[in-house]
Amino acid sequence: MNSSIAVNHPLIQHHLTRLRDQTTPPEEFRHLVQRLAVLLAYEATKDLELSAAAVRTPLVEMQGARLRDRIALVPILRAGLGMVDPILDLIPTAEVWHLGLYRDEATAEPVEYYSKLPGERPPQLALVVDPMLATGGSAVSALAALRRWGVPRLKLLSIIAAPEGVALVQGEFPDAEIHVCAVDQQLNSDKYIVPGLGDAGDRTFNTLGH
Ligand code: PRP
Ligand code: URA
Repeated sequence: MNSSIAVNHPLIQHHLTRLRDQTTPPEEFRHLVQRLAVLLAYEATKDLELSAAAVRTPLVEMQGARLRDRIALVPILRAGLGMVDPILDLIPTAEVWHLGLYRDEATAEPVEYYSKLPGERPPQLALVVDPMLATGGSAVSALAALRRWGVPRLKLLSIIAAPEGVALVQGEFPDAEIHVCAVDQQLNSDKYIVPGLGDAGDRTFNTLGH
């Protein structure tokens, strides 16, 4: 497995530790997800293509640059929603396309409940965002939908991954980039990431115990 997918940065270690903490309340959890999403997006967008753009400063005209490609930001509902606003702030021209997937509790297989990808005019790049890459089933389903749409470049941004999920995505989409804050030890028998952080959707939206 490609261990270089994990972004190594002291700020990531610091915020991720607090995110994992079972005593971290939802409000702080959401802020931490936002900070980590920015750090991941910074790394994942290092190779975006630019086109030349002239700009007049108060002093002179100069040659600047602007993003060349159409970029889609694709959150996997629910938990992926928490990563959208901070990345949209970095890439205000991105298009946001939502995909609704949940894991069947008995089988851990992804079940699609919302998708409105248009089917024509695919963007050049899609950034799929979901804090958790566990079995990889949800990510593979999302990446497959984007490939069917015709998106040539795919990048997956997750906060915590299990080795099993990374292996599945790399096997199914060898050309997709994966950027994560940490690759944890393993999945438990309920297909939760260990040590992980528990259920990201419930911790984001304060629905634990329902
Ligand atoms: C979580 C998470 C991912 C998925 C990862 O969502 O946000 O989408 O599980 O698991 P996988 O890699 O095994 O597919 P969940 O299904 O709990 O839905 P939620 O975000 O609505 O809570
Ligand atoms: N989904 C989560 O929210 N957490 C896990 O550990 C696995 C899947």
